[in-house]
Amino acid sequence: MFMSEPINIAALRERARARLPRPLFEFVDGGAEDEVTLNANRESFRELRVLPRLFTDVSEIDLSATIAGRQLTVPILFSPAGLVGVVHPAGETAPAIVARRHGTLAIVSGHGTYSLEEVAQIQPSPGWFNIFPWGERDRYGAMIDRARSAGFTGLCLTVDTTVAGNRERDIRNGWTAPPRLGSHLHEYAIHPRWVVNLMRHRRCTLRNFAPQPPPLRSFARRASHAAASTIDLISRSFSWEDLEWIRAQWEGPLALKGAFSVRDAIRAAECGIDVLLVGNHGGRQLDGLPSGLEQLALLRDALQGRVDLILDGGVRRGLDIVKAICIGASAVSIGRAWVYGLAAGGVSGVEQALTILERELRTVMALLGARSIRELDASFLLGAGLQLEPHSRRPLQASRCDSP
Ligand SMILES: Cc1cc2nc3c(=O)[nH]c(=O)nc-3n(C[C@H](O)[C@H](O)[C@H](O)COP(=O)(O)O)c2cc1C
Repeated sequence: MFMSEPINIAALRERARARLPRPLFEFVDGGAEDEVTLNANRESFRELRVLPRLFTDVSEIDLSATIAGRQLTVPILFSPAGLVGVVHPAGETAPAIVARRHGTLAIVSGHGTYSLEEVAQIQPSPGWFNIFPWGERDRYGAMIDRARSAGFTGLCLTVDTTVAGNRERDIRNGWTAPPRLGSHLHEYAIHPRWVVNLMRHRRCTLRNFAPQPPPLRSFARRASHAAASTIDLISRSFSWEDLEWIRAQWEGPLALKGAFSVRDAIRAAECGIDVLLVGNHGGRQLDGLPSGLEQLALLRDALQGRVDLILDGGVRRGLDIVKAICIGASAVSIGRAWVYGLAAGGVSGVEQALTILERELRTVMALLGARSIRELDASFLLGAGLQLEPHSRRPLQASRCDSP
């Protein structure tokens, strides 16, 4: 349990920083190359201003949202985050548990330190499963069958990891999975609780592919180079036909994560996806991409409601959620916000992250004069260079307020 309640996501992040050895914290927190895209994800939220609507009755606020026909109690999903058993032994099970408890949705990473069957055993009806173009059709096809049998109801295909992003913090830190404790020995020595958890649970490898924990001796050596990449598993020749093939294999909701241009998004919609996660992998892959928020209005206009848009990346405040929905997202998805919570306090830390965002969202909606998620639109925003619909204007009429 926490000594005191973390006041916001930034406070959870500080707890995560204190609990984790630096190589681990930087693995979570960092981005690719110069982190231009990582920073853009936050900056574009900051730059956008909001405008309230006075005198609406906000005594009841409805936060429910609908994604691919499924109603959620809050417009906040959990993005897939792999290898997070290294952060805390609850790992990828934590968002599945919290999402179920709170009536929302977790996307469970296929690069998890729990196999998808283990997640489903700990949390029946575990949400959606995150696949990658692992090798050929027979390989990811088999994983789709496993996800179906385990009770996952949706699939999310990540397509922006053809090769590993150039994450220089990880290279400098000699970060590998499993972690080699011989590198940065001092950092590991001052976090004994984390080391004990790592040794005891050994949740630090991809259990969907290798069900056994790694041998203890694998932690001992000094890392000679950066991470043995999970991405080595991924095909570099995945095609639109392969996406159509996946669509044909899967009857439930299909989300695509990593299509960013209007051209690709339209093509993906034609292939029959239901949901697009609009984001740049949290700035961890191709540096130089715009933020999801910058791209959202264009995608909304191009797709005309044919797929549900979920803004993914940079969400740290309830206000961010409002802004994304005002531009055209049906909901947002959080990554680091819940991983910080996981590092800070396991399942209850993930719950804290969700509760903080939900509380902030309610406050912002009340102050803005918005009674429900459905009411949020561009009229609550002041432009700031984004392509937005013009604010709803009507001619000024003389009224009692204007009378002398
Ligand atoms: C530690 C970590 C692991 C991640 N693993 C995955 C993954 O397995 N699959 C995936 O599609 N995205 C993965 N992502 C990206 C997230 O799903 C999400 O796109 C990103 O974190 C959103 O940005 P935010 O952290 O600013 O919210 C990971 C992100 C982090 C921080």
